[in-house]
Amino acid sequence: MKVEKLVVGVIGLGMGAAHLKGAIHYGAEIGAICDTDPKKLNKVGEEQGIPADRRTTDYMDIVNNKEINAVILATPDQQHREQVEKCLEAGKHVMCEKPLALTKDDILAIVKAVEAHPECKFMIGQICRFTPAFVQAKKFIEEGKVGELYFVESEYAHDYLEMFERDAKNWRSDPQRNGVVGGGCHAVDLLRWLVNDDPIEIYAHGTHKLLPYVEYDDANLAIMKFPNNVMGKVFVSTACKRNYTMRTCIYGTKGTLIFDNKSDTMQVFFADENGHGAKGDPTLVPVDLADHNAVAEFKVFADALVNDTEIETSVYEGAKTVMACLAIIESSKTGKIVNPDYSFK
Ligand SMILES: NC(=O)c1ccc[n+]([C@@H]2O[C@H](COP(=O)([O-])OP(=O)(O)OC[C@H]3O[C@@H](n4cnc5c(N)ncnc54)[C@H](O)[C@@H]3O)[C@@H](O)[C@H]2O)c1
Repeated sequence: MKVEKLVVGVIGLGMGAAHLKGAIHYGAEIGAICDTDPKKLNKVGEEQGIPADRRTTDYMDIVNNKEINAVILATPDQQHREQVEKCLEAGKHVMCEKPLALTKDDILAIVKAVEAHPECKFMIGQICRFTPAFVQAKKFIEEGKVGELYFVESEYAHDYLEMFERDAKNWRSDPQRNGVVGGGCHAVDLLRWLVNDDPIEIYAHGTHKLLPYVEYDDANLAIMKFPNNVMGKVFVSTACKRNYTMRTCIYGTKGTLIFDNKSDTMQVFFADENGHGAKGDPTLVPVDLADHNAVAEFKVFADALVNDTEIETSVYEGAKTVMACLAIIESSKTGKIVNPDYSFK
């Protein structure tokens, strides 16, 4: 059923503040915003002009608010399952931040809840699918410019050290919030999306030398096999001594794309009609770096509600990405090749 008047609730105002801006930019009414931290709640409320009577520290106020028909969930990963369930039970459409959840049990529960509420739309917030360079890469692949893919690699390399120094008990220190699922899901999801298929075999290795605040490996390297003999590689680091970027290379029979989420150009090599690769400098394709990914992401969610259309980033997309990440962790621990489990019944 089409939503006639979109009234949005936003729960969690870290990344949620970016989504709030996306919702305001879209022209949605903001029914309420929520954060358990009153300081953050009021700061974001003031900045975005949300009246005090539309601010709350209890997310159940949003769940129970009959005016609100769509909820953005941007709370710590461990809370997604319970909050998704509550929102769906209350008949709300939900956009939930990545990763969908941290464990297979929670993934199954969320899939079950979404399936039990077909009247509610659900979107997983895999924001990389809205990052301009990544969108451009997908376009080149779909247009056939890269040819048949044979190797794809990406990474999530992000130094969390200062964040833990400020707050050692940060929710990201939970052993279940392994950096591979928490952040690595961006790179894994990106490759799944660009290849348009799921890795079927994963072999990974992990090491822990940089981040004393966590029990999990702070760096992992995964080698993947996708269907049709496409090779994949993902590097995840939550403490690398480098700026945060997701450097990505896509190799196909007709060309190669080299890009990331921070550069204003993407490097492109296309073979000539004789199949000869470009030996000189790459062609530089401009990339729009404006920070509007969350705006584009919210628009997809909102348009789907207003027009009653399907959302590509479904619960299954979020679930498969996490299952591939869990396979990386399992392989790192066991030293064995793992076949990710994509059955959600
Ligand atoms: N898409 C992206 O690029 C991206 C980037 C960062 C984080 N994330 C994801 O977004 C989610 C939030 O991460 P973050 O970086 O914003 O974390 P954060 O710690 O910066 O912010 C989370 C906020 O939620 C609040 N909160 C915690 N429990 C709450 C509850 N029960 N009800 C209401 N508010 C609550 C906290 O007070 C905090 O302000 C996570 O799932 C994370 O993985 C996604």
